[in-house]
Amino acid sequence: MLSTDDGWGGSAGRPYLPRAFSVAEAKRGEGGVRLDFLVEAVGPGTERLAALQPGEALGVTGPLGRPFSLPRDLGPELAGAILVGGGIGLAPLAIWRRQLAELGIPVRTLVGFRDPEHSGGVEELFSCCEVRLTSDDGHVGHRGRVTDLLGVLLEGNAAASAAVYACGPPPMLETVRVMCAERGVVAELAMEAPMGCGFGACFGCAVPLAGGGYLRLCVDGPVVDAAEIETALVPGSGH
Ligand SMILES: Cc1cc2nc3c(=O)[nH]c(=O)nc-3n(C[C@H](O)[C@H](O)[C@H](O)COP(=O)(O)OP(=O)(O)OC[C@H]3O[C@@H](n4cnc5c(N)ncnc54)[C@H](O)[C@@H]3O)c2cc1C
Ligand code: FES
Repeated sequence: MLSTDDGWGGSAGRPYLPRAFSVAEAKRGEGGVRLDFLVEAVGPGTERLAALQPGEALGVTGPLGRPFSLPRDLGPELAGAILVGGGIGLAPLAIWRRQLAELGIPVRTLVGFRDPEHSGGVEELFSCCEVRLTSDDGHVGHRGRVTDLLGVLLEGNAAASAAVYACGPPPMLETVRVMCAERGVVAELAMEAPMGCGFGACFGCAVPLAGGGYLRLCVDGPVVDAAEIETALVPGSGH
């Protein structure tokens, strides 16, 4: 959860509560750990964060919640990973891709964008590796949806030996959830929901479970087993 020291809460009003972010990269260096975030300015909190100047202080609470699981922990036959990112959702996939690669786990990365305004981050976060790109309007990569590429991969042998990891807008996550459920493919989704506290107290982030009841996305997620949830179309999430 991020906020800024100045221009946040108090008599300044909105933004008041901290905002939830995915860590896109974390690297140990001299004097501490450097954290990278990918921020899309959509409202008062993200606009304030995007306007931060070098040297300004940031409030950081975390890491919070549940991260992605290794393929072998999701199934003994799973040896590889397919990463599917949409828009700003590529942030948590960047750090996950690096961690998988360091363990020698084969990774295929698919990233889709809506239009040029929503296409940031690939060069900065995935400069190291091959990424297959799609865009709705054809401005980069293959014209179409990132889930089209996933469908092609899942038709091959990949479906039997790889776990799918996805983060992106709710309609994309829902398509991934349904595609994987239909093919019996194991998938984890990094979801979003409106978050108030970030540590389980306010129930602002409740997501319906397939078997009834709810999980709190901040403590039981944001990464969830796709088979566990009723739908990825969470009211109030996505932009
Ligand atoms: C676990 C998690 C990880 C996230 N990671 C990132 C990230 O890496 N980079 C990034 O730019 N954003 C990320 N978000 C979304 C980010 O938290 C919201 O965009 C932010 O809270 C909006 O705050 P605001 O004050 O700028 O806008 P608001 O005025 O609060 O909202 C503006 C618009 O964003 C939508 N919105 C508000 N809160 C959320 C939310 N929590 N999730 C989805 N949509 C929301 C609203 O429906 C509205 O359309 C993440 C959210 C969650 C829950
Ligand atoms: S954000 Fe408060 S319970 Fe999840």
